[in-house]
Amino acid sequence: MGTVARKPNRSPTSLPLFRVLLFALVLTGIFLFEVDNLATQTKTIIGYNLEPTPWHEFPAKQFNNETKIARASRIIQCSFFSCGIKSHTNQIPFTRKIEKCPRFFRWIHHDLEPWSETRISHALLMEVKKFASFRVVIINGRLYVDYYYDCVQSRAMFTIWGFLQLLKRFPGRVPDVDMMFDCMDKPLIERNSSNTPLPIFRYCTTPNHYDIPFPDWSFWGWPEINIGPWEEEFQSIKEGSQKQSWKNKYPYAYWRGNPDVVSPIREALLQCNDTEQWGAEIMRQNWTREVMDGFKQSKLSNQCNHRYKIYAEGYAWSVSLKYILACGCVPLIINPKYDDFFSRGLFPKRNYLPISPGNICPSIKTAVEWGNENPIKADEIGKSVQDFMERLNIDRIYDYMFHLIVEYAKLLNFKPVRPSTSHEECVDSLYCFADQKQTGFLARSATMPSDAPPCMLPQQANRQIDKMIAQKANIINSTQLLM
Ligand SMILES: *[C@@H]1O[C@H](CO)[C@@H](O)[C@H](O)[C@H]1NC(C)=O
Ligand SMILES: *[C@@H]1O[C@H](CO)[C@@H](O)[C@H](O)[C@H]1NC(C)=O
Ligand SMILES: *[C@@H]1O[C@H](CO)[C@@H](O)[C@H](O)[C@H]1NC(C)=O
Ligand SMILES: *[C@@H]1O[C@H](CO)[C@@H](O)[C@H](O)[C@H]1NC(C)=O
Ligand SMILES: *[C@@H]1O[C@H](CO)[C@@H](O)[C@H](O)[C@H]1NC(C)=O
Repeated sequence: MGTVARKPNRSPTSLPLFRVLLFALVLTGIFLFEVDNLATQTKTIIGYNLEPTPWHEFPAKQFNNETKIARASRIIQCSFFSCGIKSHTNQIPFTRKIEKCPRFFRWIHHDLEPWSETRISHALLMEVKKFASFRVVIINGRLYVDYYYDCVQSRAMFTIWGFLQLLKRFPGRVPDVDMMFDCMDKPLIERNSSNTPLPIFRYCTTPNHYDIPFPDWSFWGWPEINIGPWEEEFQSIKEGSQKQSWKNKYPYAYWRGNPDVVSPIREALLQCNDTEQWGAEIMRQNWTREVMDGFKQSKLSNQCNHRYKIYAEGYAWSVSLKYILACGCVPLIINPKYDDFFSRGLFPKRNYLPISPGNICPSIKTAVEWGNENPIKADEIGKSVQDFMERLNIDRIYDYMFHLIVEYAKLLNFKPVRPSTSHEECVDSLYCFADQKQTGFLARSATMPSDAPPCMLPQQANRQIDKMIAQKANIINSTQLLM
């Protein structure tokens, strides 16, 4: 003890240097391990570390086109280093006058009625979580998303983009909120005596479901099939539709779509492909070929050349409805099971002609013959529905989201807090994750703060809506056999 027992052939500094190096190595190891850990656990808007929704399966996204390091750095950079700390809570004064909302905004109260007495507790949200693909929490104008399952294609990105644009449009005015969202097609929460009403947002619903409809992603764009934001598409469809007057269009009904989705209606529709016998032309959309051809055949603005356009649901509701209605042609709507948020504002015989699902070809034939014999009335139907869609401009979409969120937030009986597993999303985090094509589509639908207040929400009118549902059912029922 106490004597110096240094080995003569060792330099005095080698031991600490060795330790420092070792320490650095271990630290780097831990760091890399943690980074790797983080990268393989962080769930993202484009589907990293997420499984497809089990209730609607689709092939899981493959990311084996990038190296592990590239993936890890992308995930960490986009998820953790994209959103600044600036809050956007300063309200911008409105300088324009308030307008009235379209009448169908009354449905907001109707959709939320199941919770108007009981209200919505945190426990209820935890119960409906098992049906959600993600959870959206807004606090002080910032958006946090907890991802549970992946969504097909870029639905999640364009849906979240819609929320972010809403926040940008009405800074400081969107209330704190906590909502469960499913991005897939079919409503899940049946209205029946054994079910507690569970609140979940999705793109469509039915009269027999509690699911709350919300504007679908395609209002901001659908890059996979080259559909631009609604504002652009509506304008170009309307211009395309005006190339010929209604009377100069082909005097039969037209449908173009994918008949290979699981849809008995679309399958039956193929049988009506005869302009002489049934007054209908049914065309197959081959998306593989369209993608290869640069979407020349599927341009929506070139699809308004017929007096009648058929709408047939696919696996559930179809986003194609809005483009069909924008055409100014007479919509022939095969009695749908599903509603999206705006289609409930349409009324049979005023905005479209109902087609019996049990009797599709003869029903189309009857409608086409009626229209060709009553061109003025038929033209009016086409015009009325095109006007309906024109009033449903993107400002109104944001207004609908705004009112729906405000009314829903009033029902929460707890104060929303940021879930510990959520990630903040902002415009920059989406641009960070977006590929080149998606970036272009996102940029095309970027919005600005509104100088007009959200439109004036109509009074609650749930009894009138119930009456309207019955009237609609009656008209549709009475036209099942004869127009
Ligand atoms: C890899 O493929 C995925 C989709 O399969 C895509 O979103 C991503 O941008 C691609 N990454 C690169 C670096 O090309
Ligand atoms: C109620 O709906 C659920 C699904 O949401 C279903 O599993 C159940 O069988 C239904 N019950 C009745 C009585 O229809
Ligand atoms: C419908 O008929 C037209 C013209 O006869 C044809 O070009 C088209 O391929 C047919 N559609 C289907 C889905 O078979
Ligand atoms: C769609 O088009 C592609 C490419 O032209 C072709 O290989 C495929 O068989 C087509 N699919 C159908 C269902 O016609
Ligand atoms: C529709 O009509 C059938 C028979 O005409 C009737 O049994 C049924 O109750 C009607 N449904 C509605 C919703 O009016």
